[in-house]
Amino acid sequence: MELSPFMKSLGLKYPIFQGGMAWVADGKLAAAVSNAGGLGIIGAGNAPGSAMAEEIKIAKSLTDRPFGVNVMLLSPHVEEVVKVILENKDNITLVTTGAGNPSTYLKQFKEANIKVIPVVGSVALAKMMERVGADAVVAEGMESGGHIGRLTTMALVPQVVDAVNIPVIAAGGIGDGRGMAAAFMLGAQGVQMGTRFLVAEESKVHPVYKKAVLKAKDIDTMVTGDFAGHPSRVIKNKMARNYINLEKAEAAKDNPDYSALEELGNGSLRRAVQDGDAKTGAYMAGEISGLVKKEQPAAEILHDVYEQADKLMGGDK
Ligand SMILES: Cc1cc2nc3c(=O)[nH]c(=O)nc-3n(C[C@H](O)[C@H](O)[C@H](O)COP(=O)(O)O)c2cc1C
Repeated sequence: MELSPFMKSLGLKYPIFQGGMAWVADGKLAAAVSNAGGLGIIGAGNAPGSAMAEEIKIAKSLTDRPFGVNVMLLSPHVEEVVKVILENKDNITLVTTGAGNPSTYLKQFKEANIKVIPVVGSVALAKMMERVGADAVVAEGMESGGHIGRLTTMALVPQVVDAVNIPVIAAGGIGDGRGMAAAFMLGAQGVQMGTRFLVAEESKVHPVYKKAVLKAKDIDTMVTGDFAGHPSRVIKNKMARNYINLEKAEAAKDNPDYSALEELGNGSLRRAVQDGDAKTGAYMAGEISGLVKKEQPAAEILHDVYEQADKLMGGDK
């Protein structure tokens, strides 16, 4: 498979991004992915600038290859995180952004020679991102783990590809080479995977959470937060069931107040990742969990996914 000029410009062997997952994607995981020829991305989530500086330092100590950072634009620490990224501009190839419009920071990133790739869930947002100067977009379907949009990857990716002239990376529901090849058929130049990397050997996700992903069947994820306006895909566990029951009860009221629910959700991904707590932890993971059956080194994941896709796409015929 010939890499697109954009993917080549990132210095990659494989056109595969590891999603910048909050609490999960640390410097160690990102470095393992980058060392193996994919693009490792550290997830900033709501972490303060100092924690990001530490993870970037770890990644720098483990790899000479390019890596990225995912900036959560709604984070209370976004300004500090941007500052830390700019201070490390020589090592950070790109920034992916979630939860909003990165235009406030775009000029600074561009001047620092850092590419900006917003994650989008609709054609309108993709077009807006192109207009403000994004280098590419990640089009993420609602099959994915974590916070999600409304459209499926299958419907979203080709529509975004047709609507913009910048490269499109597909995300959501891609777990093997078949998914990757399909994304390329839809016009994507690369893929981003989250769920499959949750169970990478180098991922710090708690063994109980990892096991839940590995054991999950096709129908074992659900969406919470839909009524409250911030849908998120998680594996069904006690926390998810409790959350959705409270959410539905609140939604049935004349004047729903979701503040107690927000309280319940606060810190829930951290509790899942660090403690594996199924009662209060949100095991964020995508629909493709049912296909993810073993814990493997990140390098093996990248190799297996790419080789399968390459073969399906005609290989070096
Ligand atoms: C546990 C978890 C946390 C995530 N956190 C973030 C995040 O902080 N920012 C972001 O842009 N995407 C986040 N994502 C989405 C991933 O980066 C990626 O786009 C998505 O997982 C791809 O879909 P898949 O899970 O089907 O592979 C998260 C996903 C998971 C599973």
